[in-house]
Amino acid sequence: MRFDTLIVNGTVVTATDSYVADVGIEGGKITAIGAALPRENAGKVLDAAGKLVLPGGIDVHTHLDMPFGGTTSADDFETGTRAAAFGGTTTIIDFAIQYKGQTLRTAFDAWMKKAESKAVSDYGFHCIITDVGAAQLEEMNELVRDGVTSFKLFMAYPGVFMMDDATIFRVLRQTTKNGAMVCMHAENGGVIDVIVQQALAEGKTAPKYHALTRPTTAEAEATSRSIALAEMAGAPIYIVHLTCNDALEKVREARDRGLPVYAETCPQYLFLSLENMDAPGFEGAKYVFTPPLREKWNQDRLWNGLAKDQLSVVSTDHCPFCFKEQKEMGKGDFTKIPNGGPGIENRMSLVYSGGVAAGRFSVNRFVEVTATTPAKLFGLYPRKGTIAVGSDADVVIFDAKRKHTISAKTHHMRVDYSMFEGITVTGMPDVVLSRGRVLVDGEKFLGKPGAGSFLKRGTR
Ligand code: URP
Ligand code: ZN
Ligand code: ZN
Repeated sequence: MRFDTLIVNGTVVTATDSYVADVGIEGGKITAIGAALPRENAGKVLDAAGKLVLPGGIDVHTHLDMPFGGTTSADDFETGTRAAAFGGTTTIIDFAIQYKGQTLRTAFDAWMKKAESKAVSDYGFHCIITDVGAAQLEEMNELVRDGVTSFKLFMAYPGVFMMDDATIFRVLRQTTKNGAMVCMHAENGGVIDVIVQQALAEGKTAPKYHALTRPTTAEAEATSRSIALAEMAGAPIYIVHLTCNDALEKVREARDRGLPVYAETCPQYLFLSLENMDAPGFEGAKYVFTPPLREKWNQDRLWNGLAKDQLSVVSTDHCPFCFKEQKEMGKGDFTKIPNGGPGIENRMSLVYSGGVAAGRFSVNRFVEVTATTPAKLFGLYPRKGTIAVGSDADVVIFDAKRKHTISAKTHHMRVDYSMFEGITVTGMPDVVLSRGRVLVDGEKFLGKPGAGSFLKRGTR
């Protein structure tokens, strides 16, 4: 047996098992897992004694190099995937946007151009659809054949992305034939718009009003409506960035009825709350994203939802805008603050810390919500999302005991603040491999822009 790389003595963790074993890598794939694999023909031996050997994290919700709110998200595919690697994430699924009047193919081509020479690790795309006629419904099938097997629809952002129920229903029905997954931004955009206009008329322009004008009921109603639309269409549905107990109850009830309903939450909803928006001056703008932060008590409900498999995935919704110059565009009018926050680098450590180290769920559940289920739901399994013979050698040697205090001073995201500034996590990646290549070794980055490949994903 020969290996390019042999990882020895670590505790291999999958969604179901944890055991001490060596992991052999050859040609970018895992080719052997076993006790005391032969070292003599290994190009490189990495000692993982006392460490966890995890499948590389999969973040299925990122917005790199995305024009939004009059500016562009601050990380591109190079800086974003590099920061992701430092945090133990080796695969992302980003969103290619179809603007009104465009074909879906135009969106796909535009995002391929942004990614292909820059991404340091593998990536796929969902397609955001904003404009659907018969031609685009037909085109969905083509994109699915080309590996773009999920589509994001919006029930919010009227006049920009928002779609009416009939159109959503048509798209959902199309997925019953082509095997794709609809990812839903579930908020009642029409109602929110009325509340927003009233707040502005009353002179309520500070960042906090972004959150106060988007009630949890607007999220719960849209969550419930989207589930009903999916049920009537006979399609599965994946609710993105779920923030609160009111919406979680709708998902829980649907899953209890056996419907193929899945939902993700994000670290910001698990660790931050409305209180963060009381930061002095204009600093609350750092926490302006959509849906917004909620009252603190929701956090425990979300953690419990993850532990009980009511929530299936933790993604980041990484959509970074610098505080200076970008977030500041909304001084004096919260509706002009670019919506989004940075988090691609912090997800694995935050979820490990708050989930496993805090005793809320097992290390296997951690792997499941950060890698295995994302891979299964989005057509990447078993190539990605597990440690198995034949899988891509996307591997993280993870020090479950190492503590780290998150700060914009030390993070690798191209953004001038951290949403999680000052939070100390337990558990950090030591070494990160993507298809057998070491991307990160401690503080050293060894990857190359353009080394990542487009992932042609399968259907469910
Ligand atoms: O505020 C957010 N979440 N920005 C990104 C766009 C979206 O809705 O996911
Ligand atoms: Zn969204
Ligand atoms: Zn998003």
